[in-house]
Amino acid sequence: MVNYDLKERRIIIVTGTPGVGKSAVSRALSKELKAEYIDLTEFVKKHGLIEGYDEDRETFIVDEEKVCIRLQEFIEGLNAQNIVIDGHYGVFTVSPEKVYRVFVLRRHPAELREVLLARGYSDRKIAENLASEILDVCLIDAIKRCGRDKVCEIDVTGKDVGCVVKKIVENLSGRRPCEIGIVDWLGELEREGRLDEFLTF
Ligand SMILES: Nc1ncnc2c1ncn2[C@@H]1O[C@H](COP(=O)(O)OP(=O)(O)O)[C@@H](O)[C@H]1O
Ligand SMILES: [Mg+2]
Repeated sequence: MVNYDLKERRIIIVTGTPGVGKSAVSRALSKELKAEYIDLTEFVKKHGLIEGYDEDRETFIVDEEKVCIRLQEFIEGLNAQNIVIDGHYGVFTVSPEKVYRVFVLRRHPAELREVLLARGYSDRKIAENLASEILDVCLIDAIKRCGRDKVCEIDVTGKDVGCVVKKIVENLSGRRPCEIGIVDWLGELEREGRLDEFLTF
């Protein structure tokens, strides 16, 4: 068994609004990198870290502090060079200095709406997630928490999983620079006169 030096370890976070394709991309990326894959939703369930259910927001409540501690213990016990963490609050579950890179997946609100409708989400939950995508919430969280230098945005609109994984791998190997500010859903929808259709409260 190879024991990896912890300094060589790369913790890669894949984040983005629910429905952008984090899990599909993270699973394929983990295979490609022979990385350990951690789905935060599964992780919190398996480790009993769900504290309740928020009826209004239709989402489970977790204590991010506790998740952070358990995840760190779990990661320390792993013997893997690459670790891929999949979750829309992923940046809050690892100490920023331990994060190697954050990939923020972006998907055009029209495509995202289709995914969320197919999941059977309520109108309210769809509206909340669309607003979050339009207002760059995950991107801002990633930059605030980990700093611009570690953050890469990838527009997955109309792209298949393989294509997205290829871009990520190229970035990790230094063949493609990270980009930030590549999408402007707010401006785009506004220019098309379609903002009201997507940004509703
Ligand atoms: N790059 C992609 N192109 C097309 N469909 C995708 C892509 N990535 C994911 N999907 C599909 O979109 C849906 C949401 O993906 P999922 O990985 O569950 O999103 P998330 O984990 O961000 O909530 C799934 O039905 C998945 O098969
Ligand atoms: Mg997922």
